[in-house]
Formats: sequence, C-alpha cells, structure tokens
Amino acid sequence: MGRSSTGRVVAIVVAAGQGERFGAPKQFLTVGDQRLVDRAVAVAGAACDEVVVVLPEGRVWDGAPVAAAVAGGRTRSESVRAGLEALAPDAEIAVVHDAARPLATPELFELVIDAVRAGADAAVPALPVADTLKRVDGDQVVGTVDRDGLVAVQTPQAFLVAALRAAHTGDVDATDDAVLVEAAGGTVVVVGGDPRNLKVTNVADVAVVEALLAVLPGKGAP
Ligand code: CTP
Ligand code: MG
Repeated sequence: MGRSSTGRVVAIVVAAGQGERFGAPKQFLTVGDQRLVDRAVAVAGAACDEVVVVLPEGRVWDGAPVAAAVAGGRTRSESVRAGLEALAPDAEIAVVHDAARPLATPELFELVIDAVRAGADAAVPALPVADTLKRVDGDQVVGTVDRDGLVAVQTPQAFLVAALRAAHTGDVDATDDAVLVEAAGGTVVVVGGDPRNLKVTNVADVAVVEALLAVLPGKGAP
C-alpha cells in the first residue's frame, strides 16, 4: 500500500570523512572539471527538493547553494545525525548520499525515493556480488560464503525521516543507515543498483571515475 506523500524530500550529502584509505579527504578532489562533492551535491539537488551537506569540522562550504551546510562527526553515523538535525521540519523523506560517489544518477535517486513513497521505511540500491567471498581467520580460509541472496549496497539510500530518526537514537554506529533501520525493525527494500555508481575509496578508483566520466552521457561525454 502506498502512503500519501506531499512532504519534502531532502538529500543529506555526507562529506565529512577523512579519507584514511585514500590518504586525503577524497571528496574534495577535482576529477574532470568538478570536485567529487560538487557532483554529488548537483545530482542530489536535481533529484530532491533541497540538499544538506555535511562537512569536516571547520570547513566552509564553497560549492553551489544548499539549504544547509553543517559540521559532521568522527564517524559516518555521527555525520548523518548532524545532517538530520539540519533537516527542514516538513521533510518527509531523507536521502543519504556519499559525497565520494560522484556518478549516481537522478534516476537512481528517483528509484529509492519512489520505493519509500510506495510504503517502505527505507530503500537502498543493491548489486549482485561479483567476487567469490571467503571467510578467513588470519590468513587461513575457513569457508566460502554462498553468494546466493547476497547483494552489495550503495547510496543514495532513501528513508522515511521518522524511521531514520528513530534508527539513529543514541550513539549508534554503522557503515550505512539501512542496517540501523533494519535493527529497529523497519522495512528496508532494495532497488536495482548501478554498477557505474562506484564509491571512491582508494586512489585507483579515481582512474575508473575519470574513464567513466569520458563515456557517460551528460557527465562530460559529448
Ligand atoms: N563520511 C562522513 N563522516 C565521517 C566518515 C565518512 O561524512 N566521519 C562520509 C565520507 O566523506 C564519504 C562517505 O561518508 O563521502 C563514505 O565514507 P568512506 O568512503 O568510508 O569515506 P572516509 O570515511 O572518508 O574514508 P576512510 O574510511 O578510508 O577513512
Ligand atoms: Mg569511512
């Protein structure tokens, strides 16, 4: 059953990480003609009514106009909570998106938003797991994980604001927010993820983003 929804859809772009694996706060790196964070904010702004950007403590927002720019925390979850505090009071759906994912499309935002409008507490993009997964103990393989029924999830992730707030009660920490909604007993659904929507984690990922920018329509390709 769908829910009637007229409330606002607000994106929370989390850009407050230190980029330890990358070696620098990668979200401020310019790739092609734009910083990763600016690409993430632009697509979020195209797909949502407004954007809240969450920045490292002390950093001033110098990108396109946003509804709010706030300081994040030590963990990604703390940064999401900082974004939640800055939401407009009439926000009905919040879409959390990593600034480190510059290639998400407005269509992917629409898919997750529509799934929440259709009744889910949360919706996340998911892709089949391509690699074989092993369980290890130190350097010893102790098992092979059955890939059946396993998916890898991306952002943007859409939430009913009330469900996201409830999931973030207390000092919880997780690498994504959907798991917090699951733990709180909420319904989380998956939509088809986009293999091009990679997260820049390591330095090598930049070369992949550059290559994709050259071939993706509307991203710099002719
Ligand atoms: N993020 C954040 N606040 C944090 C940690 C992460 O806003 N305290 C954001 C990052 O800026 C990024 C997204 O969450 O856009 C995904 O996190 P990740 O790729 O892990 O980035 P970092 O935490 O910066 O990288 P690392 O884990 O290598 O330190
Ligand atoms: Mg991290």
